[in-house]
Amino acid sequence: MKIVHVASEVFPYAKTGGLADAAGALAGALADAGHEVSVFLPGYRIAVDHPLAAGAERRLQLRIEMGDAFMSGDVRSFSPRKNLTVYFVCRDEFFDRRQPYGNGERDYEDNHHRFIFFCKGVVEALRLLELRADIVHGHDWQCGLLPLLLRHAEQRHGTTLAAKTVFTVHNLAFQGVFPMRSFYRTNLPDELTGIDGLEFYGQLNMMKGGLLFADRVTTVSPSYAREIQTPEFGCGLDGVVQTRAGDIVGLLNGIDPAIWNPASDVHLPARYSAADLSGKAACRAELLRHHGLDPAFKGPVFGMVCRFTEQKGVDLVLANADFFRTADVRLVLLGTGEPRFVEAVRELAMAARGRIAADVRLDEAMSHLVEAGSDFFLMPSRFEPCGLNQMYSQAYGTIPLVSRVGGLADTVTDLDENPAEGTGLMFPPTAEGLRDGLERALRLHADPARRAAAQARGMRKDFSWATAAQAYQRLYDEAV
Ligand code: ADP
Ligand code: GLC
Repeated sequence: MKIVHVASEVFPYAKTGGLADAAGALAGALADAGHEVSVFLPGYRIAVDHPLAAGAERRLQLRIEMGDAFMSGDVRSFSPRKNLTVYFVCRDEFFDRRQPYGNGERDYEDNHHRFIFFCKGVVEALRLLELRADIVHGHDWQCGLLPLLLRHAEQRHGTTLAAKTVFTVHNLAFQGVFPMRSFYRTNLPDELTGIDGLEFYGQLNMMKGGLLFADRVTTVSPSYAREIQTPEFGCGLDGVVQTRAGDIVGLLNGIDPAIWNPASDVHLPARYSAADLSGKAACRAELLRHHGLDPAFKGPVFGMVCRFTEQKGVDLVLANADFFRTADVRLVLLGTGEPRFVEAVRELAMAARGRIAADVRLDEAMSHLVEAGSDFFLMPSRFEPCGLNQMYSQAYGTIPLVSRVGGLADTVTDLDENPAEGTGLMFPPTAEGLRDGLERALRLHADPARRAAAQARGMRKDFSWATAAQAYQRLYDEAV
């Protein structure tokens, strides 16, 4: 098949979260399975400057209609592996900036124009390249208008660009909502500004475009596929999601074993496997030493790596500050995010020097060391479409402590409920729930045999993308 993936971030060229890992690994796995795969992402400064993109060549000049004006841009491409071509849609005014979505404090004010331009650039590139895709697969709100723009361009030019479109929701909490007056930049028919189209409380909602107009809609776990049809998790779009209830499927993400494998991980000071965990002890000592904690500490080490937001339950960890200050444990927090959480996390670490370390950075290598060096990994998310770190944790012999939501519920088995198959600890997404999980973690740490058995089970699990990608292949087959 000819498969085109379109995403606002793709590992390793640009990453702010799990979307990048998922899009990059899925595209790679489909290429490995023999499909002809193209991946489009914006030509951000970090992407264009990435060493692996050094061979990128300017392929196309773009002239994109944006409302009543035309904007120029270009498309660069290169092939990082067999069957895979990566395309950057470039326009310096929009993408030659330090970060993909915002300056750290807040989102860029022209994000709607940036991603309308990006989607239009993809459509125009597909036309100019005469690619005739079987599947054009867009991810999250930044690609929400893609199915509409694609069909609109096909009508206008009397040509077929794609047999079918697929849209995947990675996180319904980010919908791309903008003033309706920016709609004219899409050059789409005005009837789409109504409630059956892109209108959402008087505003333009880009996520709605993907949900309503893609041929197939997926999300990243079976539980989340059910949850987003309810008011509690639907973020105001549960009614819209319900209109697709018949054909929305939840397909779990996987792990890219070339990147997340403790036996070959280039970011670790020592490598290890289920058969020999001695390298894990070296990683643990290095993690503690690096953060100014005693490397010989014997009690449980908790790690957490995430965007510091409400979704991830950072406030639930803060609500349990007394536990981390008084119990004989260590805690390493790696993340960036909302200033109020960053400040609170820093204060917590300052008040408990030698026990709690706050590492406020985006650091890919350190995220691997936290996974490898921790005994327990914290993910008390309020909602979690899929979540990757709980899978990385299991692969790295680190026991995940997760709330019972979304993909966390689908990929972790609770040890107390299912002692024979358990790989982690699960609780409701509340401060008390997390507290209960922490207490149970202490008891587990004091029982080395039970802990080792849970670790071994986690490390044996198959989370590989090769398997996960097969589910997408079946979906594509059915669709076309
Ligand atoms: P989400 O996409 O909602 O942020 P996921 O669990 O799907 O959550 O994926 C998050 C990804 O981002 C993981 O690969 C995680 O290791 C990574 N990550 C999050 N924060 C950081 C950070 N500060 N430094 C390095 N990697 C991070
Ligand atoms: C989103 C979700 C996360 C998921 C990731 C990749 O960022 O928040 O749960 O794992 O996308 O699909």
